[in-house]
Amino acid sequence: MRKIGIIGSGYVGLVTGACFAEIGHDVLCVDNDERKIKILEGGGIPFYEPGLEELVKKNREAGRLRFSARTKDAVDTCEVIFICVGTPPKEGGEADLSAIERVASEIAENMTEYRLIVEKSTVPVQTGRRIKRTIELRKKKNVEYDVASNPEFLREGSAIYDFMHPDRIVIGVESERAARILREIYEPIKAPIIETNIESAEIIKHASNSFLAMKISFINAVSIICERSGADVMKVAEGMGYDRRIGKEFLRAGIGFGGSCFPKDLSAFIKIAEKLGYEFNLLKEVEKINQEMRHLFVKKMEDLLWNLKEKKIAIFGLSFKPNTDDMRSAPSIDIINLLRKEGAYISAYDPRAMEKAKEIMPDIEYAKDPYEAATDADAIGIVTEWDEFGKLDYKRIRNLMRTPIILDGRNMLDPEEMRKLGFIYRGMGRG
Ligand code: UDX
Repeated sequence: MRKIGIIGSGYVGLVTGACFAEIGHDVLCVDNDERKIKILEGGGIPFYEPGLEELVKKNREAGRLRFSARTKDAVDTCEVIFICVGTPPKEGGEADLSAIERVASEIAENMTEYRLIVEKSTVPVQTGRRIKRTIELRKKKNVEYDVASNPEFLREGSAIYDFMHPDRIVIGVESERAARILREIYEPIKAPIIETNIESAEIIKHASNSFLAMKISFINAVSIICERSGADVMKVAEGMGYDRRIGKEFLRAGIGFGGSCFPKDLSAFIKIAEKLGYEFNLLKEVEKINQEMRHLFVKKMEDLLWNLKEKKIAIFGLSFKPNTDDMRSAPSIDIINLLRKEGAYISAYDPRAMEKAKEIMPDIEYAKDPYEAATDADAIGIVTEWDEFGKLDYKRIRNLMRTPIILDGRNMLDPEEMRKLGFIYRGMGRG
């Protein structure tokens, strides 16, 4: 059992903290947002993630998970401190590391004995060096410390499972002591441990996310060729995926990726490459294709409806992917804006993300269920592949609509079945 401090109780921090507590550690989660700490102390969680509320509750009650609004509390009592604060993109795509610097300074100023400071937030390569320099400059006492990198690979919606069953654990360290502590912390979790230097660990995270984003853009580009040639991208992806060198995952064509990681990490990786004197054009193309898919979806809607002006379009799904209420860089935002620019009228439904969507898009209509959204609609656009959209009564929906048109941006419905029900159905990269 180790005493672990988590600085930054956002998505990554809270999941990490709760999971560390679950595997037996004594965890203190810190956030400078007092409101967030109040919610957490009151037994709630500030965002939706399946299973997290229960996990937090269980470990709070067991006394293994506590909260505080002061970084100093963590530095005073925890030997290991994970930095999990946000690294949002700046105007040009570069990561804003000011929160990391602030936390590193605070840790340095309060350290009175050995501390292991671990960067968990996704950061550009060489951030570990910067943290070290900040600590060197700001520490008040001559205490020993280590800096390490331990990137997270959690997916929203399955974060707890991903934490408990990772494909690998990456630890970037500069001392035996740091390596030993991190290995011990992760001991209950069965996964290969990749031990390397800090720079390599930092790059593993950016390169992995960029590679996955590249897979998605690749299959999306292939989907355009499929559609124009009479092939079916779903079958093409299946056929490719059986090759173990390629793998089946992340070959789902559609309207592209969103979320808090891929878009941000891609542009941050392009920026850091640029700083190091390399134009990562391959990744710039990945971004471009991703953006094009959203335009293509709108273009297809226009082809289906002839004119978009004054047409009612029911949008099924708003979150960037199913099982989350996260709207960050969600394709739905661009798609809805483009459709509205052409004069279309939107009625949207999402099982979880409508509250957050209202803050970003206050002046579209939000329906209480998919049937209400589809009533008198000229077309349905499926933007997020929530399970429940596969189980709807489409016969009823067809009867509610003005014209029975479905544009399935995630290829989640069966084209044959939809056509049998009387729909004009289009997917992405298939007939
Ligand atoms: C991702 C990484 O998977 C995770 O390892 C990292 O820590 C954070 O970023 P997340 O953003 O939660 O996780 O979602 P993920 O399930 O990876 O999906 C990202 C986006 O890609 C979604 O918008 C999804 O719809 C899209 N996607 C994914 C596709 O369009 N096609 C696919 O085949 C897979």
